[in-house]
Amino acid sequence: MTDLRYRDPSLPTDERIDDLLARMTPAEKVCQMVQLDARGDIEQIVTEQLAGSILHASPETMLEAIDLVGQTRLGIPLLTGDDAIHGHSFWPGATIFPSQLAMAASWDAELVQRMARATAIEVAATGIHWTFSPVLCIARDLRWGRVNETFGEDPHLIGELASAMVKGYQGDGLDDPTAILACAKHFAGYSETQGGRDASEADISRRKLRSWFLPPFERVAREGCRTFMLGYQSMDGVPITANSWLLNEVLRGEWGYNGTLITDWDNVGRMVWEQKVCADITEAATKAVRAGNDLVMTTPTFIEGALDALAKGLIEESQLDAAVRRILTLKFELGLFEDPRPPSAQRQREVIGCAAHAELNLEVARRSLVLLANDGVLPLGDAAKRIAVIGPNADDQHNQLGDWAGASGQVPWMADGHPRDLTETVLDGFRAAVPADWQVSYARGCNIEVLRPHPWGDTPPDGQPLPKVFSSAPVDPDLQDEAVALARNSDVAVVVLGDTVHLTGEHKPTATLELQGGQQALLAAVAATGTPLVVVLLSGKPQILPPAALVANALIQAFNPGMRGGRAVAELVLGRIEPSGRLPVSIPRHIGQTPVYYNQLRGQHGDSYADLTQDPSFVFGEGLSYSTIEYSDLEVLTPSVAVDGVIRVAVRVSNTGTRPALETVQLYISDEITSVTWADRELKTYTQVALLPGETRLVELALPASACTLVDAEGTRLVEPGRFELLVGPNSRRSALLSGTVTIG
Ligand code: NOJ
Repeated sequence: MTDLRYRDPSLPTDERIDDLLARMTPAEKVCQMVQLDARGDIEQIVTEQLAGSILHASPETMLEAIDLVGQTRLGIPLLTGDDAIHGHSFWPGATIFPSQLAMAASWDAELVQRMARATAIEVAATGIHWTFSPVLCIARDLRWGRVNETFGEDPHLIGELASAMVKGYQGDGLDDPTAILACAKHFAGYSETQGGRDASEADISRRKLRSWFLPPFERVAREGCRTFMLGYQSMDGVPITANSWLLNEVLRGEWGYNGTLITDWDNVGRMVWEQKVCADITEAATKAVRAGNDLVMTTPTFIEGALDALAKGLIEESQLDAAVRRILTLKFELGLFEDPRPPSAQRQREVIGCAAHAELNLEVARRSLVLLANDGVLPLGDAAKRIAVIGPNADDQHNQLGDWAGASGQVPWMADGHPRDLTETVLDGFRAAVPADWQVSYARGCNIEVLRPHPWGDTPPDGQPLPKVFSSAPVDPDLQDEAVALARNSDVAVVVLGDTVHLTGEHKPTATLELQGGQQALLAAVAATGTPLVVVLLSGKPQILPPAALVANALIQAFNPGMRGGRAVAELVLGRIEPSGRLPVSIPRHIGQTPVYYNQLRGQHGDSYADLTQDPSFVFGEGLSYSTIEYSDLEVLTPSVAVDGVIRVAVRVSNTGTRPALETVQLYISDEITSVTWADRELKTYTQVALLPGETRLVELALPASACTLVDAEGTRLVEPGRFELLVGPNSRRSALLSGTVTIG
């Protein structure tokens, strides 16, 4: 055994890798580069295909896989990955937090880091070493199905929250037994699809990438996010998996990234059968290796393709060595050769869904709720003792949790989702939270959808389960009448609407953002009763608000608020907590307005359609407190600064109401004259301040002048010296912001 230097933990990692690489055959190296779907024949995957990594392993399969590794010649441990996207998605009973979009509404990086830490602790206890999270895509076309997985529309906010999430997952370093690998995805530009259609060509220039889409990735690359996942789409005709400019020149070259890359699902095979840019798997494997991919997800034929390419001299063995070295580095640094980190039943009993995580989950849910309108009906007072909880999402566990949560369709072992008693729906929340002499009644009111099997059948070409096909449910007069009667006999109607897990996620762009099924009719009918109306939206992404929602007495956007979300909603409505969420994404008035993100480029010809304003219903950064907040006396403390200096501003923020508030003070900059058209304003920093009723605080914000960049016509990011407007206030709407100026340079 002494000559097995790679097994000697006292040696430096590089020496161990050199030793192991020298023992591996070319075939073993190529096999090390594949990640296979553990829902297949696990014995074949581990002992014949010698896969370097697996994903979607059920709890039982994981244990079997570790045993099988012992039967292989070199005993190289498996790297086990899965999608723990907002909690440990596919582990029955794990803590499912609010979706990434929902937690983004907290604008609280420290909270997101704690959430990721808790997730890592649960994931690590189950033998999984790697989560394919976070998503750094920018949500611009809201028809896209994966808006729920993003941190919203702003590159700065995405960078802040993604950085925190990566830190939370990776903990104190990979030798920490509770650390898991983070994965920044989907690199890059995947969300910029045509018409919102999933994985279509992204019409995006290199300059546009550098302007908006790359900065959050660059940040986490430089901060040590250990892995990156590549998007499905192509840009300028080149699939990301073959994009040597993006992977080699930018990511590895300019940013010096030495982490490990993984393709998305069958990206290599798709270059042959779907995008048709390669004649066969040999050509596809050649392109993938040359562009610098390390792990190839779920393309088992990559093995034969890469070996053929090697035999024909299309790729070099040294290229395989570079990829395998990066994969093995993760395995050695995680210590898997000494301890494959198997599932631990005892740790699972201690941490999965534990009380501390449930408490944290409630905290994240409370912070993720955005109060968008309130005419004073909220918080409910004693005059509202009879509460009608109405609507198809008021008591629906799955739609509340959203995508990547057990029953969302990705894995076969959780068809019914997580144990029902772990999720508090809005109805559960009210029942638990109201005083004993109040009355909570429920009526579903309508259905949202009717589902049919996918026309492609049960065996999809890429092996990923196909979603059921949605159609909008008709109005059900009996359900609706029952809800209307209930509203009439109640003091307040809380109507919980939104979308379903079949309208959100991969493969599921939507052509509209309208509330589907009987929801609009239900809302109009309940509104017509005259009973005070509170609308709550549980949805994967912004919905177009029908007239009855816009005139409701109060409106709460909850996105997918996680297992404790219903409790948090009830607490908010009852005034047990203060609303503090701020929109991470703008909400359009009409689907035809999209994209409505706030940081649009300056153009010509004004800002309205002939038939509609271009102004969205609600803008990025918007959200109310139960108190009133006033901004005054913006002072630029540094009227002129050098490019390497720091801009400092102070603003007075007052709580002029009668309730405590947590205010998110936002600083946008606007470069007054630019060599290229640029965004009218961009969020650059923000801070959150707690204010008691009547309290005023002088809030200072500091911003390095070097952050006031644009990307010039040649694609270079730089500061163009001159005057910048500094805009400070509660949201991105110009009319809500106080203005000052600074001269840079
Ligand atoms: C495809 C998705 O695009 C990606 O986000 C996910 O991580 C992989 N499937 C693995 O499930």
